[in-house]
Amino acid sequence: MSTTELNRQGRIAVISINNPPVNALSHSVRSGLMQCLQQLADDHDLDAAVVHCIGRTFCAGADIREFGRPPQQPFLPELVLALDASAKPVVAALHGTALGGGLEVAMGCHYRVAAKSAKVGLPEVLLGLLPGAGGTQLLPRLIGAEAALDVILDGKPRNVADPSIKGLIDAIADDDDLLASAVRFATEVAGKPVQRCSDRSVAAVDADYFEQRRSAIAKRTRGLISPKKIIDCVQAATTSSFAEGMRLEREAFLECQSSSQSAGLRHAFFAERTASKVPNLNAEVTARTLEQIVVIGAGTMGAGIAHNCLTAGYRVRLLDKDADGVARGDATVRRLMQGGVDRGKLTTAAADACLARFETSDDLTAVSDADLVIEAVFENMAVKQQVFRGLGEHCKPGAILASNTSTLDVDAIAAASGRAGDVIGMHFFSPAHIMRLLEIVRGRETADDVLATSIAFAKALGKIGVVVGNCYGFVGNRMLYSYGRENQMLLLEGAAPEVIDRVLQDWGMAMGPNAVNDLAGMDIGYKARKERKDRPDDPRFYRVADVLVEKGWLGQKTGRGTYLYPDGSRTPVPDPEVQALINAEAARLGIEQREISEQEIIERCIYGLIIEGARILEDKIAYRASDIDVVWTNGYGFPKYRGGPMHYADQVGLDKVYARICEFCERFGDTYWKPPALLAELAKNGGKFSDLG
Ligand code: 3HC
Ligand code: NAI
Repeated sequence: MSTTELNRQGRIAVISINNPPVNALSHSVRSGLMQCLQQLADDHDLDAAVVHCIGRTFCAGADIREFGRPPQQPFLPELVLALDASAKPVVAALHGTALGGGLEVAMGCHYRVAAKSAKVGLPEVLLGLLPGAGGTQLLPRLIGAEAALDVILDGKPRNVADPSIKGLIDAIADDDDLLASAVRFATEVAGKPVQRCSDRSVAAVDADYFEQRRSAIAKRTRGLISPKKIIDCVQAATTSSFAEGMRLEREAFLECQSSSQSAGLRHAFFAERTASKVPNLNAEVTARTLEQIVVIGAGTMGAGIAHNCLTAGYRVRLLDKDADGVARGDATVRRLMQGGVDRGKLTTAAADACLARFETSDDLTAVSDADLVIEAVFENMAVKQQVFRGLGEHCKPGAILASNTSTLDVDAIAAASGRAGDVIGMHFFSPAHIMRLLEIVRGRETADDVLATSIAFAKALGKIGVVVGNCYGFVGNRMLYSYGRENQMLLLEGAAPEVIDRVLQDWGMAMGPNAVNDLAGMDIGYKARKERKDRPDDPRFYRVADVLVEKGWLGQKTGRGTYLYPDGSRTPVPDPEVQALINAEAARLGIEQREISEQEIIERCIYGLIIEGARILEDKIAYRASDIDVVWTNGYGFPKYRGGPMHYADQVGLDKVYARICEFCERFGDTYWKPPALLAELAKNGGKFSDLG
């Protein structure tokens, strides 16, 4: 079958779209639908039409893969206008998720019948875009400008029965009766005057309202251009004609579409979906069954992981080495569960059901029924190896043994178990029940089915699993070292912590590195550095952080770290005593302090990341540059609209990045700045990291 087809049911045209997997509105679908509309207009034996989709969902929007290519007519807005203009009624039958251009097509239709389980949304903002096929003009006409703005600005799908979108859906049908219901609906409206959305008026909204939304969104989406344009377009729907609103929307859409922000967000979209595809994993392999999970170590990470597994439906036992540890972990899991209820994420009944599957124990041999054990004890090789020796002894054959180590050698941990094939790294991020990233560390001997199970497990937890190789710090923390190191060097060279943080935050990082250290607790990095066997022999290496930790200034939890946090506040206040310490340390090390430009702060920190990313690719620790981007945008607050460090480097141009790195190498020596051969090669040949596949 072609991607569209028109069949008759009596005098009703049933127009089917079949473009797996998500019925994206590719060129063939758009032109096919145009032909179907022409047929509907020309055929005197047809009185009305139903547009529906084959497969798991109604259209999930424009075909995002087409955005980088030359556009082909008919464009999506033309299709939506053609539907709207049809003299014969057209009914959309919605199931799955009608998103973006998919919902715009549905709004071009004169009526919408939806399956009970269907969801609708305009997620373009998440791709740095705005609805560009009439969404900003049609939705306000159906549900009002204020409600439309909520839908378009948050980009989240809503259930079709959600009262906040009242007016969008004309009828709700049982899932298994959708098409028949839509045909009945079409039969009823056939021959009656069509009800065009474009003919409706929009209730007036005070200009102040839009001003308030503009200032609120500017704070929330620092630097993003599409949210502001969305507000302009929706406001235009309340003040201008439909035609003028459509013109304005098209102009704004094309501007967003050609922006580097949208390119970055679209890159992130596909990168996240590619990350779980492991090139050399046997596709025939069957995942192991997971029902009972045991988490060992009931501290910060263990409790969060246990909570995450419970809400995903698993049975969970949380172990710690003594009754105090167990009691602490038990209390944390219950507190997190209650927090979920308080924030409306979970119903009380769902939280109770989770807790009914939850138990704790201080008996470290209580692992014999576990399908998966996740170890989250102290970050110390001897302690981890001792735990894995016990697991090797007490676990049933086929149990998967995972370590949540954030830096240590997974192969050395695996060896202690005596069954290295069953062992894998699962590096969760803190807070584990919230952060979406899971670095899955494939050890030298990790079995293929253990890897396949771990990828499926990440998905079941609602996380993005990225498969990485085994080395110190894997992808994320290995690169964090370079980023953090440049921050530390810049402090010694004369940049104040609050200046570095402001500059990087303005550039797009979720937080500045010094504020992050204070939030996480400076002792965590300190302990990891002390454990590190291959730390460079450089007296400047993380010297400021070491001095602060040795004084007991660990961050927010001790009321001061790099910053002061007076009276338990969480707002960092620059600390003159810390600045004096930094200056004294610089003098002791013979470092002359100087004025440092904002550009240098950005380049030192971000190129520090890129150079380590290039080494990671050389070492084959990541399968692709885009996997590194997924780690950094989902685990370390790197701005998604810049795509990730490797995509950003490609956008700047690797020749330029390379030249600057060579300059840094000249100025600061080659301990950290020696350009990797891979980068030199790509720069020389006009290549990109994304060319590496
Ligand atoms: N265009 C092209 N490919 C798309 C796509 C789209 N709009 N949406 C999904 N895909 C692809 C994915 O890349 C993936 O491909 P792969 O199998 O090769 O990796 C495949 O479809 C399945 O996608 P998911 O893995 O995400 O499947 P899920 O079932 O988890 O989710 C979904 C389905 C909810 C539809 C999700 O894919 C999604 O959110 N898609 C994006 C929707 C979107 O942003 N639409 C707006 C597009 S912009 C637009 O419409 C502009 C217009 O206003 C002019
Ligand atoms: P934590 O100190 O909060 O908790 C560790 C828990 O393990 C404690 O409750 C302790 O009693 C228990 N424990 C220690 N030895 C044990 C043993 N032999 N048997 C059973 N329980 C034992 O530590 P945290 O922060 O939860 O870290 C745990 C692991 O997670 C570490 O490997 C760490 O590197 C990693 N990690 C930590 C992150 C963080 O931000 N805290 C982020 C990602 C990973």
